[in-house]
Amino acid sequence: PLPIIIDCDPGHDDAVALLLAVSSPAVELLAVTTCFGNCSVEDATRNAIQVLTLAGVSHVPVAAGAGGPSQGDATLGNYVHGASGLDGPQMPAPAFEPLDESAVSLLSRTLSDRDDPVTLVVTGPMTNIGRLLTERPDLRHRVREVIFMGGSTERGNHTPTAEFNTYADPEALDRVLSSGVPVRMVGLNLTHQAVATQDVVDRMRRMNHRIGQVCAAWMGFFGDSYNKLWEFEAPPVHDPCTVAALIDPEVVRWRDAFVAVELDGRWTRGTTVVDLYGRYPDREPNARVAMELDATRYWNLVLESIDDLGRR
Ligand code: BDR
Ligand code: CA
Repeated sequence: PLPIIIDCDPGHDDAVALLLAVSSPAVELLAVTTCFGNCSVEDATRNAIQVLTLAGVSHVPVAAGAGGPSQGDATLGNYVHGASGLDGPQMPAPAFEPLDESAVSLLSRTLSDRDDPVTLVVTGPMTNIGRLLTERPDLRHRVREVIFMGGSTERGNHTPTAEFNTYADPEALDRVLSSGVPVRMVGLNLTHQAVATQDVVDRMRRMNHRIGQVCAAWMGFFGDSYNKLWEFEAPPVHDPCTVAALIDPEVVRWRDAFVAVELDGRWTRGTTVVDLYGRYPDREPNARVAMELDATRYWNLVLESIDDLGRR
């Protein structure tokens, strides 16, 4: 299996990404690190442990990371994910504690301890990974790639042009994009193809176990937010697209491109600029950008994995 670390801010869709990762034999989840984002880092850490507890997983170490971005004040996504960051169904009490160690320390230790390079899956602001590469540039070659949910080739969500994760810490993303580490970007242009339609939610509901019921209820809360805020009929389930792409290379189609993130714009701070047509001829591609999702294949993978996990 492919060794991965998930750096996240759960979050309803982060939670589904975690469930997908622990259920799949194709990836080995070595650690989970958390970041502010959808909620405070304290809430994100508790939520991550509750999701692992729901999945019956207690062997994956969890460490809390950044409480705020590289610069300025924290932007929080409670307006989407509720007061806890994971509002909706009742969750089991956390079965274990986070490590008494920072996210950067757990990331460094895990990367150093392995012989093979590790994939970093980032489904929240990029703060922890930016710090890691700043504090431990020597570990750069231990990172197989960074695959992150964030940005877009098109428009935004937190602001009209900026996606939430890239808005929340553009300096950290800029650090990662210029680090030389291979990067794959899974932006809104892709994840808006991953909507949990009524059929998807019905399939969750029909599962005969708690995990299926919890996922259906998460989609209910998340869907209401998306309906109120952005007039979506059904919620786009962004974050698991990263993990799904690692498990099944056929799920996402990619394109190499130069990607930058706006740090200064008066209205556009945090916006990703994706040069799909080589309009900056002096800029080489520095990322692979997710373009097209096979939604049927994606949902079959996510739902079958969740169902497997629930039956264990
Ligand atoms: C991203 O922001 C959060 O709401 C989600 O968890 C996802 O990572 C989507 O813009
Ligand atoms: Ca997230």
